[in-house]
Amino acid sequence: MTLAPCLLVLLVGACRSTVPQTPTPDAAQAPHAHGAPAGSTSTAIEAKPTRTNRDPHGNPDVERYIDMLQSTGRLETLQIPLVVEHLALAPDAIIGDLGCGPGNFALAFAKAAPRGVVYASDVEPAQLDSLRAKIAGDAAPNIIPVLASFDDPHFPPGRMDLVFIGDTYHHLQDRVAYMRRLEACLAPGGKLAILDYKPGDLPIGPPRAHKLEAGVMERELVEAGWTRVAKHDTHPWHDFEVWTPGEQR
Ligand SMILES: C[S@@+](CC[C@H](N)C(=O)[O-])C[C@H]1O[C@@H](n2cnc3c(N)ncnc32)[C@H](O)[C@@H]1O
Repeated sequence: MTLAPCLLVLLVGACRSTVPQTPTPDAAQAPHAHGAPAGSTSTAIEAKPTRTNRDPHGNPDVERYIDMLQSTGRLETLQIPLVVEHLALAPDAIIGDLGCGPGNFALAFAKAAPRGVVYASDVEPAQLDSLRAKIAGDAAPNIIPVLASFDDPHFPPGRMDLVFIGDTYHHLQDRVAYMRRLEACLAPGGKLAILDYKPGDLPIGPPRAHKLEAGVMERELVEAGWTRVAKHDTHPWHDFEVWTPGEQR
Protein backbone atom coordinates (compact mmCIF):
# COMPACT_ATOMS: atom_id res chain seq x y z
CA MET A 1 0.00 0.00 0.00
CA THR A 2 1.37 3.42 -0.95
CA LEU A 3 1.43 6.23 1.60
CA ALA A 4 -1.71 8.10 0.40
CA PRO A 5 -4.20 5.17 0.67
CA CYS A 6 -2.65 4.24 4.05
CA LEU A 7 -3.33 7.73 5.35
CA LEU A 8 -6.89 7.59 4.01
CA VAL A 9 -7.58 4.32 5.84
CA LEU A 10 -6.17 5.75 9.08
CA LEU A 11 -8.24 8.93 8.76
CA VAL A 12 -11.49 7.06 8.09
CA GLY A 13 -10.83 4.87 11.15
CA ALA A 14 -10.12 7.87 13.34
CA CYS A 15 -13.35 9.61 12.27
CA ARG A 16 -15.62 6.71 13.23
CA SER A 17 -18.19 7.67 15.84
CA THR A 18 -17.20 7.04 19.45
CA VAL A 19 -20.84 7.27 20.58
CA PRO A 20 -21.56 4.42 23.05
CA GLN A 21 -23.65 1.50 21.86
CA THR A 22 -27.41 1.60 22.19
CA PRO A 23 -28.57 -0.57 25.11
CA THR A 24 -30.36 -3.68 23.88
CA PRO A 25 -34.13 -3.16 24.08
CA ASP A 26 -35.80 -5.63 26.38
CA ALA A 27 -39.38 -6.77 25.98
CA ALA A 28 -40.70 -3.91 28.10
CA GLN A 29 -38.75 -1.42 26.04
CA ALA A 30 -39.63 -2.61 22.56
CA PRO A 31 -39.54 0.34 20.16
CA HIS A 32 -42.74 2.26 19.65
CA ALA A 33 -43.99 4.95 17.34
CA HIS A 34 -45.12 8.17 19.00
CA GLY A 35 -48.04 9.62 17.13
CA ALA A 36 -48.66 6.41 15.21
CA PRO A 37 -52.04 4.72 15.56
CA ALA A 38 -52.30 2.93 18.90
CA GLY A 39 -51.41 -0.74 18.78
CA SER A 40 -48.93 -0.38 15.93
CA THR A 41 -45.26 -0.91 16.69
CA SER A 42 -42.22 -0.22 14.63
CA THR A 43 -41.23 -3.89 14.52
CA ALA A 44 -42.98 -4.21 11.15
CA ILE A 45 -40.37 -2.10 9.35
CA GLU A 46 -39.27 -3.88 6.21
CA ALA A 47 -36.39 -1.79 4.96
CA LYS A 48 -33.05 -1.93 6.71
CA PRO A 49 -32.61 1.16 8.90
CA THR A 50 -30.44 3.81 7.27
CA ARG A 51 -29.04 4.78 10.64
CA THR A 52 -29.70 3.12 13.97
CA ASN A 53 -31.30 4.83 16.94
CA ARG A 54 -29.61 5.03 20.36
CA ASP A 55 -33.04 5.41 21.99
CA PRO A 56 -34.24 1.83 22.54
CA HIS A 57 -37.86 3.06 22.73
CA GLY A 58 -37.80 4.67 19.31
CA ASN A 59 -38.05 3.28 15.79
CA PRO A 60 -34.61 1.76 15.05
CA ASP A 61 -34.65 3.60 11.72
CA VAL A 62 -33.82 6.97 13.20
CA GLU A 63 -34.52 8.98 10.03
CA ARG A 64 -38.06 7.58 9.88
CA TYR A 65 -38.43 8.18 13.60
CA ILE A 66 -37.44 11.83 13.19
CA ASP A 67 -39.90 12.22 10.29
CA MET A 68 -42.67 10.83 12.48
CA LEU A 69 -41.75 13.08 15.43
CA GLN A 70 -42.17 16.18 13.30
CA SER A 71 -45.17 14.99 11.27
CA THR A 72 -48.06 17.42 11.02
CA GLY A 73 -50.50 15.06 12.72
CA ARG A 74 -48.26 14.64 15.76
CA LEU A 75 -47.50 18.34 16.03
CA GLU A 76 -51.23 19.07 16.08
CA THR A 77 -51.76 16.75 19.04
CA LEU A 78 -48.86 18.33 20.96
CA GLN A 79 -50.44 21.81 20.79
CA ILE A 80 -47.07 23.42 21.27
CA PRO A 81 -48.35 27.05 21.33
CA LEU A 82 -50.74 26.11 24.14
CA VAL A 83 -47.90 24.48 26.10
CA VAL A 84 -45.75 27.58 25.68
CA GLU A 85 -48.62 29.81 26.75
CA HIS A 86 -49.16 27.82 29.96
CA LEU A 87 -45.46 27.82 30.82
CA ALA A 88 -45.46 31.65 30.77
CA LEU A 89 -41.72 31.83 30.14
CA ALA A 90 -39.82 34.99 31.07
CA PRO A 91 -38.10 36.54 28.03
CA ASP A 92 -34.71 35.72 29.59
CA ALA A 93 -35.61 32.24 30.89
CA ILE A 94 -33.00 29.47 30.91
CA ILE A 95 -34.70 26.29 29.75
CA GLY A 96 -33.59 22.66 29.52
CA ASP A 97 -35.47 20.56 26.96
CA LEU A 98 -34.77 16.96 28.00
CA GLY A 99 -35.22 14.54 25.09
CA CYS A 100 -35.58 17.41 22.63
CA GLY A 101 -35.79 15.20 19.53
CA PRO A 102 -35.71 17.30 16.35
CA GLY A 103 -36.49 20.43 18.37
CA ASN A 104 -40.26 20.83 18.13
CA PHE A 105 -40.45 22.37 21.60
CA ALA A 106 -36.93 23.81 21.79
CA LEU A 107 -37.59 26.07 18.79
CA ALA A 108 -40.83 27.36 20.31
CA PHE A 109 -39.16 27.95 23.70
CA ALA A 110 -36.31 29.83 22.03
CA LYS A 111 -38.79 32.15 20.36
CA ALA A 112 -40.74 32.69 23.59
CA ALA A 113 -37.55 33.48 25.53
CA PRO A 114 -35.51 35.49 23.01
CA ARG A 115 -33.09 36.79 25.65
CA GLY A 116 -32.82 33.41 27.36
CA VAL A 117 -31.11 30.13 26.45
CA VAL A 118 -32.53 26.73 25.55
CA TYR A 119 -30.29 23.75 26.28
CA ALA A 120 -31.71 21.10 23.95
CA SER A 121 -30.51 17.70 25.11
CA ASP A 122 -30.92 14.28 23.53
CA VAL A 123 -29.09 10.94 23.63
CA GLU A 124 -29.44 10.47 19.87
CA PRO A 125 -26.98 12.47 17.73
CA ALA A 126 -29.25 12.31 14.67
CA GLN A 127 -31.97 14.13 16.62
CA LEU A 128 -29.48 16.87 17.43
CA ASP A 129 -28.35 16.96 13.78
CA SER A 130 -31.94 17.52 12.74
CA LEU A 131 -32.27 20.37 15.24
CA ARG A 132 -28.89 21.79 14.21
CA ALA A 133 -30.04 21.99 10.58
CA LYS A 134 -33.00 24.11 11.68
CA ILE A 135 -30.90 26.53 13.70
CA ALA A 136 -28.17 26.93 11.09
CA GLY A 137 -27.11 30.49 10.50
CA ASP A 138 -28.94 32.83 12.80
CA ALA A 139 -32.28 31.01 12.97
CA ALA A 140 -32.23 30.44 16.74
CA PRO A 141 -28.98 31.71 18.26
CA ASN A 142 -30.23 30.96 21.78
CA ILE A 143 -30.45 27.16 21.36
CA ILE A 144 -27.52 25.04 22.52
CA PRO A 145 -27.73 21.38 21.39
CA VAL A 146 -26.33 19.02 24.04
CA LEU A 147 -25.56 15.32 23.67
CA ALA A 148 -27.10 13.63 26.72
CA SER A 149 -25.90 10.49 28.44
CA PHE A 150 -28.62 7.99 29.30
CA ASP A 151 -28.42 9.03 32.95
CA ASP A 152 -27.65 12.75 32.56
CA PRO A 153 -28.92 15.52 30.25
CA HIS A 154 -25.74 17.51 30.92
CA PHE A 155 -27.54 20.74 31.71
CA PRO A 156 -25.35 23.26 33.57
CA PRO A 157 -25.97 22.87 37.32
CA GLY A 158 -28.10 25.42 39.19
CA ARG A 159 -29.13 27.37 36.08
CA MET A 160 -32.45 26.09 34.71
CA ASP A 161 -35.62 28.10 35.31
CA LEU A 162 -37.49 25.29 33.62
CA VAL A 163 -36.74 21.73 32.64
CA PHE A 164 -39.25 20.43 30.11
CA ILE A 165 -39.70 16.73 29.32
CA GLY A 166 -41.94 16.20 26.28
CA ASP A 167 -43.05 12.64 25.47
CA THR A 168 -39.79 11.43 26.95
CA TYR A 169 -40.39 10.72 30.65
CA HIS A 170 -41.41 7.13 29.91
CA HIS A 171 -38.20 6.66 27.84
CA LEU A 172 -35.94 7.38 30.81
CA GLN A 173 -34.30 4.55 32.68
CA ASP A 174 -33.94 4.25 36.46
CA ARG A 175 -36.30 7.21 36.69
CA VAL A 176 -36.45 7.80 40.45
CA ALA A 177 -32.67 8.17 40.67
CA TYR A 178 -32.66 10.25 37.46
CA MET A 179 -35.33 12.63 38.76
CA ARG A 180 -33.55 12.96 42.11
CA ARG A 181 -30.38 14.09 40.35
CA LEU A 182 -32.26 16.40 37.99
CA GLU A 183 -33.08 18.83 40.79
CA ALA A 184 -29.42 19.93 40.88
CA CYS A 185 -29.70 21.65 37.49
CA LEU A 186 -32.55 23.94 38.59
CA ALA A 187 -32.03 27.58 39.54
CA PRO A 188 -33.74 28.73 42.77
CA GLY A 189 -37.49 28.73 42.03
CA GLY A 190 -36.93 26.52 38.96
CA LYS A 191 -39.67 24.14 37.78
CA LEU A 192 -40.09 20.87 35.95
CA ALA A 193 -42.83 20.52 33.31
CA ILE A 194 -43.76 17.13 31.89
CA LEU A 195 -45.98 16.43 28.92
CA ASP A 196 -46.52 12.73 28.31
CA TYR A 197 -49.13 10.37 26.94
CA LYS A 198 -51.99 9.55 29.24
CA PRO A 199 -51.95 5.95 30.47
CA GLY A 200 -54.24 3.31 28.97
CA ASP A 201 -55.54 2.72 25.46
CA LEU A 202 -55.54 5.79 23.21
CA PRO A 203 -56.20 6.23 19.49
CA ILE A 204 -52.71 7.69 19.05
CA GLY A 205 -49.26 7.17 20.50
CA PRO A 206 -47.45 4.14 21.86
CA PRO A 207 -49.43 1.03 22.73
CA ARG A 208 -50.47 0.70 26.36
CA ALA A 209 -47.76 -1.84 27.17
CA HIS A 210 -45.03 0.64 26.23
CA LYS A 211 -46.33 3.40 28.48
CA LEU A 212 -46.38 3.84 32.22
CA GLU A 213 -49.47 2.64 34.05
CA ALA A 214 -51.70 5.20 35.75
CA GLY A 215 -50.12 6.73 38.85
CA VAL A 216 -46.59 5.47 38.17
CA MET A 217 -45.12 8.81 37.11
CA GLU A 218 -46.65 10.58 40.10
CA ARG A 219 -45.40 7.91 42.53
CA GLU A 220 -41.89 8.07 41.08
CA LEU A 221 -41.70 11.85 41.17
CA VAL A 222 -42.92 12.03 44.77
CA GLU A 223 -40.38 9.35 45.72
CA ALA A 224 -37.70 11.43 44.01
CA GLY A 225 -38.69 14.44 46.14
CA TRP A 226 -40.85 16.48 43.74
CA THR A 227 -44.18 18.20 44.43
CA ARG A 228 -46.84 18.74 41.79
CA VAL A 229 -47.94 22.38 41.54
CA ALA A 230 -50.13 22.30 38.43
CA LYS A 231 -52.01 19.86 36.24
CA HIS A 232 -53.23 21.55 33.07
CA ASP A 233 -56.35 20.28 31.39
CA THR A 234 -55.16 21.18 27.92
CA HIS A 235 -54.64 17.97 25.93
CA PRO A 236 -56.99 15.10 25.13
CA TRP A 237 -54.21 12.47 24.89
CA HIS A 238 -51.48 13.92 27.09
CA ASP A 239 -51.00 14.78 30.75
CA PHE A 240 -49.34 18.15 31.21
CA GLU A 241 -48.04 18.78 34.72
CA VAL A 242 -45.68 21.15 36.50
CA TRP A 243 -43.56 20.08 39.48
CA THR A 244 -41.15 21.75 41.90
CA PRO A 245 -38.50 20.24 44.12
CA GLY A 246 -39.57 19.77 47.72
CA GLU A 247 -41.66 17.63 49.99
CA GLN A 248 -45.24 16.72 49.09
CA ARG A 249 -47.60 18.62 51.35
C1 LIG B 1 -40.72 10.68 21.69
S1 LIG B 1 -39.26 11.59 21.42
C2 LIG B 1 -39.77 13.21 21.94
C3 LIG B 1 -39.04 14.32 21.23
C4 LIG B 1 -39.52 15.74 21.57
N1 LIG B 1 -39.51 16.00 22.99
C5 LIG B 1 -40.92 15.93 21.03
O1 LIG B 1 -41.88 15.73 21.80
O2 LIG B 1 -41.06 16.24 19.85
C6 LIG B 1 -38.22 11.07 22.75
C7 LIG B 1 -36.80 11.63 22.62
O3 LIG B 1 -36.10 11.36 23.84
C8 LIG B 1 -34.78 10.98 23.54
N2 LIG B 1 -34.29 10.22 24.69
C9 LIG B 1 -34.57 8.96 25.05
N3 LIG B 1 -33.94 8.66 26.21
C10 LIG B 1 -33.27 9.78 26.59
C11 LIG B 1 -32.43 10.12 27.71
N4 LIG B 1 -32.16 9.24 28.68
N5 LIG B 1 -31.90 11.35 27.76
C12 LIG B 1 -32.15 12.27 26.79
N6 LIG B 1 -32.92 12.00 25.71
C13 LIG B 1 -33.48 10.78 25.61
C14 LIG B 1 -34.93 10.20 22.23
O4 LIG B 1 -33.71 10.10 21.53
C15 LIG B 1 -35.99 11.00 21.51
O5 LIG B 1 -35.44 12.02 20.72
